Amino acid sequence: MIYLDNLATTPVDPQVVDAMSIAMREHFANPSSRSHLLGHRANEAVEYWTEQIARCIGAEQDEVLFTSGATESNNLAILGYCLRPRQRRRKIISLVSEHHAVLDPFQRLTAHGFEVVLLPIHPQTSNTPGMIDEEAFISALDEETALVSIMLANNEIGVIQPIEKLASKCHQIGAVLHCDATQAVGKLPIQVDELGVDLMSFSAHKFYGPKGIGGLFVRRRQRPIRIQAQIVGGGQQQNLRSGTLNLPGIVGMGVAMRLCEDFQKQNESARLSDLVDKLYSQLRAELPDLRINGPTLGNPTTRLAGNLNCCFLPIEGQSLMLEVPQLAISSGSACSSTNPKASHVLRALGLSEEEARCSLRFGVGRFNSLPEIEQAAELLINAVRKLRKIL
Ligand SMILES: Cc1ncc(COP(=O)(O)O)c(C=O)c1O
Repeated sequence: MIYLDNLATTPVDPQVVDAMSIAMREHFANPSSRSHLLGHRANEAVEYWTEQIARCIGAEQDEVLFTSGATESNNLAILGYCLRPRQRRRKIISLVSEHHAVLDPFQRLTAHGFEVVLLPIHPQTSNTPGMIDEEAFISALDEETALVSIMLANNEIGVIQPIEKLASKCHQIGAVLHCDATQAVGKLPIQVDELGVDLMSFSAHKFYGPKGIGGLFVRRRQRPIRIQAQIVGGGQQQNLRSGTLNLPGIVGMGVAMRLCEDFQKQNESARLSDLVDKLYSQLRAELPDLRINGPTLGNPTTRLAGNLNCCFLPIEGQSLMLEVPQLAISSGSACSSTNPKASHVLRALGLSEEEARCSLRFGVGRFNSLPEIEQAAELLINAVRKLRKIL
């Protein structure tokens, strides 16, 4: 199989597996058990790796909470901030193209009297497809706004939003900015102060770490943010997220983040962009009708390296995938692949239901090679030709 679904999840880096396996053998004690040396040692390991994770995103150790992944981090950030006792403001703003792990907690808040505003994105026909409509953002933002949640890089079309600019607008009127940075952490150089975010979600399995561990940055310095716990119990993590700490997960996420730093220094993004360009050019040379969804390729400041989303009209994405069982790719959002509806992100770009259904997402990652990309393109071209004959 050729794995080109790195935006749904990444394979775990072998160095992460090794570090986790050692951690599981040596640090099996509960890091909260302070009555014996094994518990102390486990706690030291947690502290060391928390500090490393915090450093990688430019935060302090006490600004990182561990969760089960970005879905939980988004829920904790949004519900935890909006449902805290002294929250008087009743408006929350996000984008139509957000992940459901943001849209669904937003929806839940309507039952608590919150007004939800979902801003449009620029259409595919514009020069900046997928970008937030800044005019609509400015006119929606007011002193009733409690929280704005905007993702950094989109999981389907890779578009990168101008978070720094949006954060400063939020702060001018006393709103906080939550950023779902799940697709960006480990791939883009992220420093929370430069971005200006107040809350930021991430998840290890998107950057070659294990599944079941993620993080939420909660600002404590300059404009400290208060949130209300959504999971209560043993009072771990400053009483903000109870539950025994997932020590092997924390070690795995820490090692994965440090490896990402090394790969970023070796310009991994340029290599991934190059592979995506090659995939697209090879496809386009034989399938001239192929269309890109989202921003143009080749600019890592506007589109996440490694992401390609194409419309194969009139061939349905699902039919095309069945013709190439050797390829692991996805149609729409893999995270909601149990939902047969056409991608809400592609629809928000102005694509028709049919165009959205005829689209496929490719996620090229660290372990992909050029021969794999060339082979994948060839398989797709042959499959499209075969399906066109049947139509
Ligand atoms: C942008 C974004 N946010 C949130 C999530 C959910 O992450 P997790 O699987 O860690 O819960 C995903 C997963 O695809 C994602 O891409």
